Amino acid sequence: MTEKILVTGGAGFIGSHTTLALLEVGLEVVVLDNLSNSSDIALRRVEDICGKSLTFIEGDIRNSQILDDLFNEHRISAVLHFAGLKAVGQSVRMPLNYYDNNVVGSISLFNAMARAGVFNLVFSSSATVYGEPTQMPISEDFPTGIPTNPYGRSKLMVEDVLRDLSLSDPRWSVGLLRYFNPVGAHESGIIGEDPNGIPNNLLPYVSQVAIGKLKHLSVFGNDYPTPDGTGVRDYIHVQDLADGHLCALQKILQTNGVNIWNLGTGIGYSVLEIIRAFEEASGRAVPYQVVERRSGDIAQCWAAPEKATRELGWSAKRNLLDMMTDTWRWQLGNPQGYGH
Ligand code: NAD
Ligand code: WQD
Repeated sequence: MTEKILVTGGAGFIGSHTTLALLEVGLEVVVLDNLSNSSDIALRRVEDICGKSLTFIEGDIRNSQILDDLFNEHRISAVLHFAGLKAVGQSVRMPLNYYDNNVVGSISLFNAMARAGVFNLVFSSSATVYGEPTQMPISEDFPTGIPTNPYGRSKLMVEDVLRDLSLSDPRWSVGLLRYFNPVGAHESGIIGEDPNGIPNNLLPYVSQVAIGKLKHLSVFGNDYPTPDGTGVRDYIHVQDLADGHLCALQKILQTNGVNIWNLGTGIGYSVLEIIRAFEEASGRAVPYQVVERRSGDIAQCWAAPEKATRELGWSAKRNLLDMMTDTWRWQLGNPQGYGH
């Protein structure tokens, strides 16, 4: 039986791009996704892009029977764990859902992995676990802060569970990937980010304004201690993130214990810089008005990505224009996303 990679949440934004990257280097992939925030069309398109097929199992990571059956049926060498809920505002309104999906779900997965003797794991963590650091750029040895919402706390909890698990059993090899702000879409324009309803994140909102689906962007505050007063973030192209997962996967297969890597570019851009860059890439206007700060937002956040470069041989290759151009190509070609 050939060894395969299990990708939980593989139909989602980052999972679908990473699944494609795995298939493209010749690995076999099993995707487990309950499609609560995605469409299986994304997976069919992944297969179309690379001309290879994958195994899709529609199911929930909280379902132990599905997990046991999956591990029995497929010889899995490592798990890339993307499945989870990610909307910060919704997590404040529905904390139990977030702890159940993200924490209980992850524990259910780790239990099933242990039962099956699979100990290699890459976990989708987030720069949100740093809270509000006083210094930039953020390196992995910064203390984790106090996330301001249940979503962020759920990520930190899973990180802690994995640290304890690895201390209890040296067979575990875990990569904690702390993503900064993932954006963009595959350069084919065929797969991309398909937010449900009105987007919360900046880039999907900006692209829906540019195409005329939304009237204008609200810029959340221009009185931050940043060069132009608007929030600064480290936006990273989703294909660079996908490549980062390939590198992390290779590394955890050769090591043990818990390793943390930031996945960011090391460059921060302000909201106004993003608007200008998007206007340039799309040739469309992005009207905006400045409103109050959004509660829970920090002024600035960008990564020190050198540890990932040193230890994984990875660095982000795509620049701001690539991120904007690829987002726009996806938006133009798929005004209704995957149409669900
Ligand atoms: P996404 O919502 O597009 O993908 C998540 C996928 O998980 C979806 O396909 C969803 O249907 C599936 N899923 C959710 N709960 C599940 C469950 N209980 N069982 C099975 N499948 C389930 O999100 P994304 O942007 O691709 O994010 C992937 C991961 O990266 C998430 O864990 C997220 O928290 C993390 N992350 C995302 C960002 C970001 O800004 N996009 C930043 C940092 C970390
Ligand atoms: C970026 C900048 C906003 C929307 C969130 C999560 C984080 C991580 C990534 C998962 C900020 C400004 C935004 C808008 C705006 N997710 N903005 N108008 O807040 O950095 O991070 O997504 O782990 O946990 O918190 O990303 O895209 O929402 O905002 O002015 O309509 O754009 O204030 O400065 P954020 P974002």
